[in-house]
Amino acid sequence: MSYPYQITSYEGYQEAWKKSVEDPEGFWGEVASHFQWKKPWDRVLDWNFKEPSVQWFKGAQLNITENCIDRHLADKANQPAIIWEPNDPNDHHRMLTYAQLHTKVNQFANVLKNNGVKKGDRVCIYMGMIPELAIAVLGCARIGAIHSVIFGGFSAQSIADRLQDANAEFIITCDGAFRGAKDIPLKNVIDDALISCKFVKRVIVYTHTRSAVSMIKGRDVWWEDEVRKVETAGNPDCPAETMDAEDPLFILYTSGSTGKPKGVVHTCGGYMVYTNYTFVNVFQYKPQEIHFCTADIGWITGHSYIVYGPLSAGATSLMFEGIPTFPDAGRFWDIIDKFKVNILYTAPTAIRSLMAFGLGPLQNKDLSSLRVLGTVGEPINEEAWLWYDEHIGKRKCPIVDTWWQTETGGVLISNLAGITPSKPSYATLPMPGVQPLLVDEKGVEITDNNVTGNLCIKSPWPATLRTTYGDHERCRTNYFATYENLYFTGDGAYRDENGFYRITGRVDDVLNVSGHRIGTAEVENAINMHAGVVESAVVGYPHDVKGQGIYAFVIYSGTHGDEDMTRRDITATVSRIIGPIAKPDKIQLVSGLPKTRSGKIMRRILRKIAENELDNIGDTSTLLDPAVVEEIKRGKV
Ligand code: WT7
Repeated sequence: MSYPYQITSYEGYQEAWKKSVEDPEGFWGEVASHFQWKKPWDRVLDWNFKEPSVQWFKGAQLNITENCIDRHLADKANQPAIIWEPNDPNDHHRMLTYAQLHTKVNQFANVLKNNGVKKGDRVCIYMGMIPELAIAVLGCARIGAIHSVIFGGFSAQSIADRLQDANAEFIITCDGAFRGAKDIPLKNVIDDALISCKFVKRVIVYTHTRSAVSMIKGRDVWWEDEVRKVETAGNPDCPAETMDAEDPLFILYTSGSTGKPKGVVHTCGGYMVYTNYTFVNVFQYKPQEIHFCTADIGWITGHSYIVYGPLSAGATSLMFEGIPTFPDAGRFWDIIDKFKVNILYTAPTAIRSLMAFGLGPLQNKDLSSLRVLGTVGEPINEEAWLWYDEHIGKRKCPIVDTWWQTETGGVLISNLAGITPSKPSYATLPMPGVQPLLVDEKGVEITDNNVTGNLCIKSPWPATLRTTYGDHERCRTNYFATYENLYFTGDGAYRDENGFYRITGRVDDVLNVSGHRIGTAEVENAINMHAGVVESAVVGYPHDVKGQGIYAFVIYSGTHGDEDMTRRDITATVSRIIGPIAKPDKIQLVSGLPKTRSGKIMRRILRKIAENELDNIGDTSTLLDPAVVEEIKRGKV
């Protein structure tokens, strides 16, 4: 067996879970012993949730890229590490073996060094889904620079906010990215961001779409030129920087219920062990198999289950540049047949959007290589689960419903493919090392089954977020202060008679749109920046494909243009401030918002209206002006 810590039976799972809870240090110390460390740890775990302070493998030293690349060279040098499928099916795919990945990462790590990047520096990466994105990420990790990948759907303003928050002086980007029929001008967006970020010293630009870009002398350099310099210099090898287990590996920004997005920080040792462990166990990965995670590396799913989890396990990871519906809704199935994909890991929103095309796009698709299916990012409705099972898995592939978060680094609750039972729309049981519990509003644990509550976690797992960059207090108040001595997830959950968990969705003011997290406050702030907007309130509503849609109620006092034009202007403003991913699906112009006498907006009422529960609004007697509710109901869009 190639992974000594791979669980192979239900009893094995129960034993592992029990041991992990009774003796976490013994359990994770054993798992971690199968990795390559430069120096062993003094202590496996030291923690308190009060500060919070969570330290795994304290005193140990390592470099994650040695675990993801170098250690596989002995027996997997010629095995593909990354397979890349381009946006356009007529373009050539690419394969990078572990040996080739090693060369490219070393070269690029030297490029970073030559450009002045040092250990601990923050490097922002804004690229499309091409192999160079993975190479850039690993190149940073090789020299101990902290990467902060920003998804291509964020605006210049969002990038500038993140650059400032992380004080990132280096950027890696490309001219453009292809996504379906679109060509996204990434370098232009970076140029706009840099107008307000004069502290950025260097932008490294990879050529992908070969679109015209401005290159500023002294600041911008071409990736290809820099690699050539390294090649000419003769020795492309870049020794892997020695990192403490608790040194930061990356920052990833994510939305919360208040304020600007937070920079979630993950560290080298624990994150590596946990993403590998969960990858191997949840998907039951077998050597040589091809793992296709359809997420973007701009999100945590891509970090953990395209790059670090699979590569640290010596797997073959398939990266896809495009979207599921381009050039047609059979694209995923073509890719699966082309490369004989064994594991497909995607989001409910993708499944639902493909379901809507009916079975036509599945005709003449084989799909017999598939062994395991996975879903992530939002609750999966039973209908989508059953469709996935019947038409994609042909009822012979276990489906893993993996619940986790940017903050948790890896999967916390999921069945293990073919090992522990699955149940449609249930994430089911916790991973070894994870102790979920439900609490009521007051923070009192609910111990019964067949109950709903707020989902918390009792003790740390190796990939617990360590802090929010530059603001530890924010990390404490956000996650560790709501309930004493517990990590609060922000999700609600139902626990059935077998102790299986079903995630019911966020209980805070965070929306989940197509599996992407967006704070309602963030969208409101963007809307309020539009000239003429007096006030706004944003809520989510059920959306057939996206899971949740964004519904904005806006008080507008401007006089410029008709209502429809105003809506389009507001949408353009949101796109400019946050990015296209935060565009409201519906905007209703109103003359007032339902407020209490103390001036608080009653979102509960707005949510009911957005959900079309017009006859079920509930008590409006505490409102300052109940008449406003009737007006809003009449104007529902
Ligand atoms: C939120 C985290 C974790 C990777 C992608 C999203 C929701 C995530 C599930 C699932 C129900 C899920 C939760 C969570 N979520 N996975 N399997 N079932 N809900 O990462 O952007 O940090 O969002 O996504 O609400 O809190 P993220």
